[in-house]
Amino acid sequence: MHSFGLVIALALQAACLATASPLSPRALKFDEVAVVGLDGRMVIMHASEYNQLEARRQTLESPPKTVRRQLESSPPKMRRQDCYQSTEVKIISDTTFTDSDVAMSGILGAQGGAAFITISTRHSIANNLKIKTGGLIKKIAKAVLRDAYKIDSDTTWTNTQTTTLRFDIPEGQYGLVVSQPLVRRIEGAVLSGCSDAPNQEPFTLDSYSSASFEDFGWVEGVIRLCNSTTYPVPYCSGEGSHE
Ligand SMILES: *[C@@H]1O[C@H](CO)[C@@H](O)[C@H](O)[C@H]1NC(C)=O
Repeated sequence: MHSFGLVIALALQAACLATASPLSPRALKFDEVAVVGLDGRMVIMHASEYNQLEARRQTLESPPKTVRRQLESSPPKMRRQDCYQSTEVKIISDTTFTDSDVAMSGILGAQGGAAFITISTRHSIANNLKIKTGGLIKKIAKAVLRDAYKIDSDTTWTNTQTTTLRFDIPEGQYGLVVSQPLVRRIEGAVLSGCSDAPNQEPFTLDSYSSASFEDFGWVEGVIRLCNSTTYPVPYCSGEGSHE
């Protein structure tokens, strides 16, 4: 059993047209994306245009830098010149890229003609800090990410209201609405112990930015149709399949 169920649309077009909102004069094509930005707007553009913007943003991204942040240091208890106790956080990389598909509707099969699909499922996405040790080391990593990057590693988003966005599913294909969030990945390590031979605890933080449009609250990225002639539908971004 799959979670959303598969609906074969035979005469769905007429039914959807009847409920179409005036805010959404037309359904988007398979090659159009809705860009959910930070400034409370939603911009519709051609997928290739968005891909170009994305490519440009990635080349403008500053190269990974190493930042050392001194958090605390105490004078060595035992006077050993080669062992100075300190705790630091080293940032190794900071990149932003398009995340895997997040399904935002069930899958519809447009077997009997073109069909429309809209966002219909609630979904959550959360910042995620991966670090093996808990306790103080994890607290230090969280504090640095909060203070230096303004990222709360515990934030969760759940899409609020459904939007008026609609997508055309090409005839004879299966399709669903997916969100492809922009994810910012910060990799680093907490260094503790003697400064010339510190213990290194690596961490990875995946984080998202809030974005909203009218009464739709979600994360920055694009919302698009993911379609396929086969079922299950292969992910349009990332590995896997929607079923
Ligand atoms: C989605 O539909 C378009 C238009 O029919 C088609 O060109 C494209 O190959 C489809 N995508 C996939 C992954 O099958």
